[in-house]
Amino acid sequence: MQTTSDEPKGELVIQTIAMPKDTNPNGDIFGGWLMSQMDLGSGILAAKTAKARVVTVAMEGMSFLQPVRVGDTVACYAWVERIGRTSMTIPVEVWVRRFMDGRLVRVTRGVFTYVAIDEAGKPIAVKRQGVATLLSPDIS
Ligand SMILES: CC(C)(COP(=O)(O)OP(=O)(O)OC[C@H]1O[C@@H](n2cnc3c(N)ncnc32)[C@H](O)[C@@H]1OP(=O)(O)O)[C@@H](O)C(=O)NCCC(=O)NCCS
Repeated sequence: MQTTSDEPKGELVIQTIAMPKDTNPNGDIFGGWLMSQMDLGSGILAAKTAKARVVTVAMEGMSFLQPVRVGDTVACYAWVERIGRTSMTIPVEVWVRRFMDGRLVRVTRGVFTYVAIDEAGKPIAVKRQGVATLLSPDIS
């Protein structure tokens, strides 16, 4: 299958197919649905990293680069860029495999910040031990 020269990096955290119910009035996929996939996927990585409940505290630098079409396979790739005391910074990229011709295209990127919380919703420290291997060696 044909790909761009750029390739996905990081961990595949969620993969699904864009469905007709997720379209906007133009017939392309609604940006809010894509953001929710990114939030779900990076949240999985954040929870795995912190080994705790996490909440999204910020989303920054969202760029919608190309439209997503019904039938495209949508894959979110994420990596842990930074671990603070209680927070984690996780860039996310969405790549699609086009339904029509199989091309691989980067469509969206953004940076999500999560905070590890206890059962009362209060921030707790992220244990750094054992998480080093989750940090992407390929951050550019
Ligand atoms: C996330 C939350 C628990 C943080 O509580 P808080 O009392 O503000 O906690 P703090 O001020 O100690 O900040 C905790 C961490 O978040 C970071 N942080 C807070 N706001 C941030 C922002 N806007 N962007 C990036 N990081 C932020 C802080 O720098 C700190 O990081 P560190 O411990 O690694 O240094 C609280 O704001 C909250 O519950 N927000 C709602 C979350 C939510 O419902 N998300 C889903 C929305 S649909």
